[in-house]
Amino acid sequence: MSSIPPAHSSARPEPDWAALRRDFPILDQQVHGRPLIYLDNAATSQKPRQVIEALRTYYERDNANVHRGIHALSTRATAGFESARERAAQFLHAGSHEEIVFTRGTTESINLVAQSWGLANLQSGDRILLTEMEHHSNLVPWQLLAQRTGARLAFVPVTGDEGLLDLTRLDELLAPPTRLFSMVHISNSLGTVNPVTELCARARQQGVTTLVDAAQSAGHQPVDVQAIGCDFLALSGHKLCGPTGIGLLWGRPELLESMPPYQGGGEMILSVGFETTSFKPAPYRFEAGTPHISGPVGLHAAMDYLDAIGRDAIFRHDQELAEYAYDRLEQLGGIRLFGPRHGRGGLVSFLVEGVHAHDVVTLADQEGMALRGGHHCTQPLMHKLGVESTARASFYFYNTRAEVDRLVEVIAAIQRFFA
Ligand SMILES: Cc1ncc(COP(=O)(O)O)c(C=O)c1O
Repeated sequence: MSSIPPAHSSARPEPDWAALRRDFPILDQQVHGRPLIYLDNAATSQKPRQVIEALRTYYERDNANVHRGIHALSTRATAGFESARERAAQFLHAGSHEEIVFTRGTTESINLVAQSWGLANLQSGDRILLTEMEHHSNLVPWQLLAQRTGARLAFVPVTGDEGLLDLTRLDELLAPPTRLFSMVHISNSLGTVNPVTELCARARQQGVTTLVDAAQSAGHQPVDVQAIGCDFLALSGHKLCGPTGIGLLWGRPELLESMPPYQGGGEMILSVGFETTSFKPAPYRFEAGTPHISGPVGLHAAMDYLDAIGRDAIFRHDQELAEYAYDRLEQLGGIRLFGPRHGRGGLVSFLVEGVHAHDVVTLADQEGMALRGGHHCTQPLMHKLGVESTARASFYFYNTRAEVDRLVEVIAAIQRFFA
């Protein structure tokens, strides 16, 4: 681990983006007779050879169940699993590996907080504050919790197509009876980068617990839980070059320690009687059953890979591509663009006037281009903006300006086709 440059170093040479792209075997293929242009990274990222190789090595050499066996393979599998916890703590600048709970991803992490912390701490009349730009996974778990506890939901409004949070009434919204403020870091529908450090500081002043949904940010920019000052943070491995089915919840140790288990089973116990059980400390009490063992191994490799590049450089690269795409699409005319012009994360969401987003995506697919069209799991936001869906191009460090130029050509051709 000591050979990995610090995630926040800025005095590094610009990465060789073209060489990095060659680490992704999947990108080197034709789709419908055209070179693949993968612009659906907000849905899931592609995986470099280094991650694929780590998974292969694990299954070819180390596979065994963790925490149980004394034999060599189990010891190796456990070491790989637990060293990934250490690596994840370092990736987020957490105080300790004990603050990292492995989950299936952002969705499960948020459900864990809602079902464990939420049921133990919220009651009728309490308020849960969200924003209008939340992904369903940071909305539905709180709706379920509200139904069970009698708590109510409130929302920080989104300004409109430019997709910023309207913070004019924030202090009022954070006042009692608000107990929790859960917010997305980078919006998957708008590309907005929310000022989570400021939002968490203002919540803290009013004694409100905070959760940051870092699904779209953790693999694209440095994320430091101590600097952000949140209480919980959730991420998904598959959006940051890691495997699907693995993610994590980071929590403040005193909060995790105070929370009851939300699932019971093997692995999470100290001792079990017919009537009662005593539980392991956090984070192990939240990891019932045989975990996804190769998942953390792959996630470890992905975190090493990203930090060897530098997430600050990745952020600059993605942002440049997104702003370039925004400007070029705007120049075409007849395009409605969503999210802020400047300071955005690495995606653009747009509508081609008179053309359904699904038609845009289907026609782009014929050109070998992977876009996404739909509500992006943000139906209430779409409703607020008065649209059913948008088309979205989302970038990662292996995408190029030439691919953005091709996107603009394809959109222009679609406009001509429907004219
Ligand atoms: C902002 C945001 N939050 C949460 C999620 C849910 O992530 P997962 O499906 O990996 O749990 C996503 C996935 O697209 C997302 O973009």
